[in-house]
Amino acid sequence: MTIKKTIALVGATGHLGGLIAHELLTDPTVDLRILVRPSSRSRAANLEAAGAEIIEGDLSDEDALAALTRDAYTVISAVQGGPETIIDAQRRLLAAARTSGARRFIPSDFSLDMFTVPEGGIVTADMRRTFAHIADAERGDVEVVHVLIGGFLDRGVLFGFIRVIDAQAKTAYVWGDGHPPADWTTYVDTARYTAAVAVDDDEIGPVFSAAGDTLDFAGIVAAYEEASGTKLTVKRLGSLEDLDARIDELRTAPNADLRSYLPLMYYRAQLRGQGQLNPKMNDRYPGITPATVVDYVRAEEL
Ligand SMILES: NC(=O)c1ccc[n+]([C@@H]2O[C@H](COP(=O)([O-])OP(=O)(O)OC[C@H]3O[C@@H](n4cnc5c(N)ncnc54)[C@H](OP(=O)(O)O)[C@@H]3O)[C@@H](O)[C@H]2O)c1
Repeated sequence: MTIKKTIALVGATGHLGGLIAHELLTDPTVDLRILVRPSSRSRAANLEAAGAEIIEGDLSDEDALAALTRDAYTVISAVQGGPETIIDAQRRLLAAARTSGARRFIPSDFSLDMFTVPEGGIVTADMRRTFAHIADAERGDVEVVHVLIGGFLDRGVLFGFIRVIDAQAKTAYVWGDGHPPADWTTYVDTARYTAAVAVDDDEIGPVFSAAGDTLDFAGIVAAYEEASGTKLTVKRLGSLEDLDARIDELRTAPNADLRSYLPLMYYRAQLRGQGQLNPKMNDRYPGITPATVVDYVRAEEL
């Protein structure tokens, strides 16, 4: 008889968290338990119907965190938010995981390698690095594994938030020479890797990194054109120094909005060759064949 592993997940009502939950619910060796805020309960109905155990509460509720993490093998965070969530709330979640004797904790990173992005380069990477250092000091025997996948190779990110390519406008945008390669992985493949890390019987180490594709700007354009049969117009928006100036202008504007300059910060890091995944550990889970840009564009008919 297989002994089931309890996997505890926070953020299951979100985009990535929902995909992680679905992956874990299809694994017969897993019992999935999720923390859901009362106001979001209706959005967890499909997961509950599929067998997830629901703990109602949020990350400030110590009793809910104890109930969530009880006997958990791995605790996964897929939350999104500012420092009060990424640093303070994840710290409480890690403390609960440690108290309950969890084997592993996966923080909500799912990004490029924030350990090689300089301080101030990407504000959200700064927060995640700060949490990583706290976690390293406070984890006890819990194995904290940062799952790093580059940028999301999806409509919402490569073709949206960062907007390397605007498929509707048939245009690709670049600053500088676009030579450094960057890593891209779909949401779905990220969820598959995260579920695999969560149930792994063996020690993984502080980082698990994998990518579906690693391409420079010209490579992304070529992959898109090959898969879609559509020729793109390439717009060079300026040098990397121009990009720095544009970010500073948006960041220091009256009523500055993080959303206006955060995508540019991510793109700048990639265009400077920061945050690259090295080494990539795709081979650890040979059952997962992550989608490339060509695969994704063909499948989505972008
Ligand atoms: N590499 C990339 O290109 C890329 C791009 C986008 C995102 N990401 C990363 O992927 C991760 C997930 O992002 P996402 O876009 O899937 O996020 P999302 O859709 O906004 O979902 C966030 C989830 O966190 C939950 N949450 C937030 N604060 C909470 C709290 N205090 N207590 C309990 N639950 C809380 C939300 O619950 P409610 O439903 O109750 O609000 C929701 O389930 C993040 O680490 C993000 O940085 C990476």
